[in-house]
Formats: sequence, C-alpha cells, structure tokens
Amino acid sequence: MQIVILLGAPGCGKGTMAGRLSASNTSFRTVSSGDLLRDAVKRQTPSGVLADGFMKRGELVPDALIAQMITDYMLGIPSDCTLLLDGFPRTVVQAEMLDKIIVANRATLSAVILMEVPDSILIDRIAGRRGCPKCGAGYHVLSIPSKIAGICDICGTALVIRKDDNPETVKNRLAVYQSQTMPLIAFYEGRGLLKRIAAHGIPINDIFENIRHVLS
Ligand code: AP5
Repeated sequence: MQIVILLGAPGCGKGTMAGRLSASNTSFRTVSSGDLLRDAVKRQTPSGVLADGFMKRGELVPDALIAQMITDYMLGIPSDCTLLLDGFPRTVVQAEMLDKIIVANRATLSAVILMEVPDSILIDRIAGRRGCPKCGAGYHVLSIPSKIAGICDICGTALVIRKDDNPETVKNRLAVYQSQTMPLIAFYEGRGLLKRIAAHGIPINDIFENIRHVLS
C-alpha cells in the first residue's frame, strides 16, 4: 500500500482534491479523519462522544483516539491501493504514530502534498462551504455552486453548513493549524517527502492536474 498525505490548513481544499483524485483513479482510496469523527459523533459512539466537544471548540481530538480510528479503517483497505490521508496526521506525535501504522501494514509513505492557500482565502472558502448530509457531495456558494441554490445536484437533498464552520471556531481551527500542524512541514521536508502545491489563484482543475502530476 502506498500512502499519500494531503496536508494543509482548514479550507485549503484537501477534501475536494481527495474526492476528485479518488473519482479519477480506482486505485486511490481516501480516508478523511474529519469525516470519520463526524460519523462517530453522529452515531454517538464512545469515540464520538469524546470527540464532540473538541470539534465544537475547533481543537484537535486526542492523538491516540484518531490514530486508533485510522488504524481500524486501514484493516479493510486492499494492500494494492494508494491511500490518501485527508486530515491525518495533524501533530508530530500523530506523524510518529503513522510511522508505526505504516510499518504494521507493510505500507510506504510516498508523498506529502502541502496545499498552500493564504488565510484570507481560507476564510472565504470555509464561509461559503455547503455540504450534502445524504451523499456527502461538497459545494461552495461562489466557486463550486450547486445548480439550484441550497440543493444537492446529485440527490436533491437540502445542503447544510458544517457546525464547526462558524467564525469563532474557524479562528481557533486556523490558530491550531499554525501551532500544532505546521511543524509537520519541517518534519516531512526533512525526510524529502514534501511537495508544495499552490492551491489558489489558478482554476481548480489546474490544481487537481498539478497534484496528479506530482503523484504520477
Ligand atoms: P476536518 O474535517 O479535517 O477539517 P479541516 O482540516 O479543518 O479541513 P476542512 O474540511 O475544513 O477543509 P478542506 O481542506 O477539506 O477543504 P474543502 O475541500 O472542504 O477536521 C474537523 C475537526 O475534526 C478538526 O477541527 C478537529 O477537531 C478534528 N480532527 C480532524 N482530524 C483530526 C486529527 N488528525 N487529529 C485531531 N483532530 C482531528 O474546501 C473548502 C471549501 O472551498 C469548499 O466549499 C470547497 O468547495 C471550496 N474549494 C475547495 N478547493 C477550491 C478551489 N481550488 N477554489 C475555490 N474553492 C475551492
């Protein structure tokens, strides 16, 4: 199994690009740590009950909790796929946990894609994000609008705003990214694995092609 980490601030487009990559190539699989956690919160599992408060405040959930969820998820993944990690790791401790998960799964970390976007654009992207609670499709009111405002193109369900996309929580999520996740840039740069991608200022399809090129 090959592992690719999508690294970047909240709203940089990790989920959008992971979705497009998985749709473009059947050997790509994606796991989003945020989606795993939101699902656990919705189902009120013990992990979800524990994670809920951290997520509402825009803080990171405990390292061991998310590392265990990723470990469990990987049990069901075919060994010949490329697994895209969206949102994990997010701390140096998690990166060290991932090293152990990789050894246990006889996997290889092939690249860390750093999606770079200025803060002012991140805030606009998060403010305009809408998602389908039924099929998971993602939109943006300006840059990726649904055909009928507020309605999912795919399944016709009313779109929703994520609970942690309110301005106060977003401010904290960006601060947490700077203090706890940015150290991963040096961590992976030191290993020669970091690939920087400008994830703004050019058409979204060009960003996608640039990432595909890096992974080819
Ligand atoms: P998580 O769900 O991972 O959120 P995040 O990292 O804050 O990232 P986002 O989902 O907000 O953004 P994204 O980069 O995927 O952008 P998107 O593609 O949606 O985490 C949520 C919470 O869970 C955390 O705060 C934490 O509490 C917890 N958590 C998760 N992982 C954890 C971990 N490992 N450890 C501890 N806690 C963890 O794009 C954003 C918007 O922009 C969309 O509307 C999209 O349509 C639009 N857009 C995307 N690309 C473009 C583009 N190129 N041009 C124009 N618009 C674009």
